[in-house]
Amino acid sequence: KKIVLAYSGGLDTTVIIPWLKENYDCDIIAVCVDVGQEADWETIKQRALTTGASACYVADVKKEYVENYVWPALKAGAVYEDKYLLGTSTARPLIAKVLVEYARKEKAVAIAHGATGKGNDQVRFDLGIMAFAPDLEIIAPWRTWDIKSREEEIEYLEKRGIPVPMKKSDSYSRDDNLWHISHEGLELEDPANEPNLERMLKMTVPPEKAPDKAEYVEIEFEQGIPVAVNGKRMDGVSLIKTLNKIGGAHGVGIVDLVENRVVGMKSRGVYETPGGAILYYAHQELEHLCLDRQTYAFKQMVSQKMAEVIYGGLWFTPLREALSAFVDSTQRTVSGKVRLKLYKGSISAAGSTSPYSLYNTSIASFTTGELYNHADAKGFIRLYGLPVLVRALMEQGFVKG
Ligand code: ARG
Ligand code: SIN
Repeated sequence: KKIVLAYSGGLDTTVIIPWLKENYDCDIIAVCVDVGQEADWETIKQRALTTGASACYVADVKKEYVENYVWPALKAGAVYEDKYLLGTSTARPLIAKVLVEYARKEKAVAIAHGATGKGNDQVRFDLGIMAFAPDLEIIAPWRTWDIKSREEEIEYLEKRGIPVPMKKSDSYSRDDNLWHISHEGLELEDPANEPNLERMLKMTVPPEKAPDKAEYVEIEFEQGIPVAVNGKRMDGVSLIKTLNKIGGAHGVGIVDLVENRVVGMKSRGVYETPGGAILYYAHQELEHLCLDRQTYAFKQMVSQKMAEVIYGGLWFTPLREALSAFVDSTQRTVSGKVRLKLYKGSISAAGSTSPYSLYNTSIASFTTGELYNHADAKGFIRLYGLPVLVRALMEQGFVKG
């Protein structure tokens, strides 16, 4: 029988291959899902095969990741606990979906993954798999084996003469893709510590190391989706790569967060999302210009809910789809250009334009105006403030009860 393994070539999944073979007597189909992470797939494929997998496939789903997972989160303005742009949370459901596709093709009986029993990723993988393959067994060795640490994993490999994919267990626990990289562990495990950005950062520079000169960047959106940078149209994958470079050089999009995991514990992570931070900022600027008050206010609630849903692994649910449908409806007029200024870790607005702008100079200006009559305001405030007036009358004894 066959088991499909979500394979990255890192320490965990390297140990899982021999462990599965010893415990399940099965063939391992290693599947690498390319969502834009830094990886040498040829080396990783070789490693899978030499350590016991019967096959290893690499599925390039970068385009699908951007269009069907990142853009919906961006359009929704989904930010978890006011800071996290959901880089890992958006990729996991797609990875789960791809694993199921391979499991079906290979007629596998189970899907295995290397997420631990303490984290969010297990929830996202499991729910994603359950949504498409309710009949498949899910194997998460970290939840069942008695290996307790990275040291014990290394020992497990050495005992079997399998080469260890990395030197020592002295690095952060990381997850990267096109959109972001996350760092957990080491000094971050004590929230009292300042993150050691110097040794940690991969996509960005520490803000104080950024150039002394600000850089402007212009993003164009069509219905909430970014389509051009500095006047140059590009596909989503190139657009994110371009903005990661520009933003990374100025140290923007670095977030340090003590967050609430789905399983109930708090954990601390540092995230680098340079292109994402630029896009979220620009997108919000455009919404300020193009959305009416009621829609904007309601969308803030939807953003919050969407973030919880995505973080919690509930991507493939009726609620996520319904929230997305609302968001898409609001995005019909979110088109236009936003200019931003990047400087030493900060992003600021430098002007935006839209054919759907609701900003009306004639109404808003202090000097002009035919549409707006100052005198109208008096009656409006009288009615708008009626409850204020009635309560004051009651409190001060002008009216009884
Ligand atoms: N805490 C973040 C999240 O839950 C990042 C998780 C990173 N995962 C990992 N396997 N390193 O989305
Ligand atoms: C893990 O525990 O596998 C990584 C962290 C997380 O999933 O939250």
